[in-house]
Amino acid sequence: MCSDFLLYVVIRRERHEGAHVATCQAGVTSVPYVHSRLQPLKRGFMSKTAFFQLKSWARFILPSRYVAPYHATPEPVVRRMLQLARVSATDTVYDIGCGDARLLIAAAERGARGVGFELHGSLVQEARQEVEKAGVGHLVKVFQEDATKASLKEATVITLYLSDSGNTHVINNLKQQIQQQTRVVSFAFPIQGYLPDKTDKIHGIDIYLYNNIGLLPPVISSLTQ
Ligand SMILES: C[S@@+](CC[C@H](N)C(=O)[O-])C[C@H]1O[C@@H](n2cnc3c(N)ncnc32)[C@H](O)[C@@H]1O
Repeated sequence: MCSDFLLYVVIRRERHEGAHVATCQAGVTSVPYVHSRLQPLKRGFMSKTAFFQLKSWARFILPSRYVAPYHATPEPVVRRMLQLARVSATDTVYDIGCGDARLLIAAAERGARGVGFELHGSLVQEARQEVEKAGVGHLVKVFQEDATKASLKEATVITLYLSDSGNTHVINNLKQQIQQQTRVVSFAFPIQGYLPDKTDKIHGIDIYLYNNIGLLPPVISSLTQ
């Protein structure tokens, strides 16, 4: 594993055919991020941010509507995801679990429109403030909504940074609404059952691009494969 990122593993309880089962998931986080989170603990107390993070993980691990904990996409990854999906002023980018809306703000800086869904109230507030601060309020809208029930019909690009089961849940629930030409770009987690059309790597971690998810059944996701 490279020096800038760490792999995390989490055991998650999920309901499967009426019973709770434990599933194991892997994710990615950055070393400076972990370091900054551990500092308050080293000092013998937990900061507000560390407490927020802990709660975010608890919500994800315990049975809930959360399909990922909060971890902001590092800025270099944001740029690479938008490049890979060729985001331009003609696009409408939907971020599923938009956090502080950094992906949507970066997309708006390329002239694209953006729609974000985020369950967590304080992140929604922060996202809206960041959108205003960046002066892109006319392009970006953030909704406090369960992304797995959202409407994606207007999306030309969908961005994901969730988890393995989160991606599966979102795609299974919302596939019918994904238009044929919509590109789906996912950081760190592939979409199970689909072959990516293109991948990129940053610090050893993959970014996956899918061009035809809205068109094809699982396993034969790409016309080019
Ligand atoms: C790993 S973070 C990614 C944040 C942001 N997309 C970014 O790239 O910086 C995942 C986010 O998804 C949100 N989330 C998880 N489950 C959700 C759901 N069902 N509906 C909406 N947001 C959700 C979490 O609160 C968290 O902010």
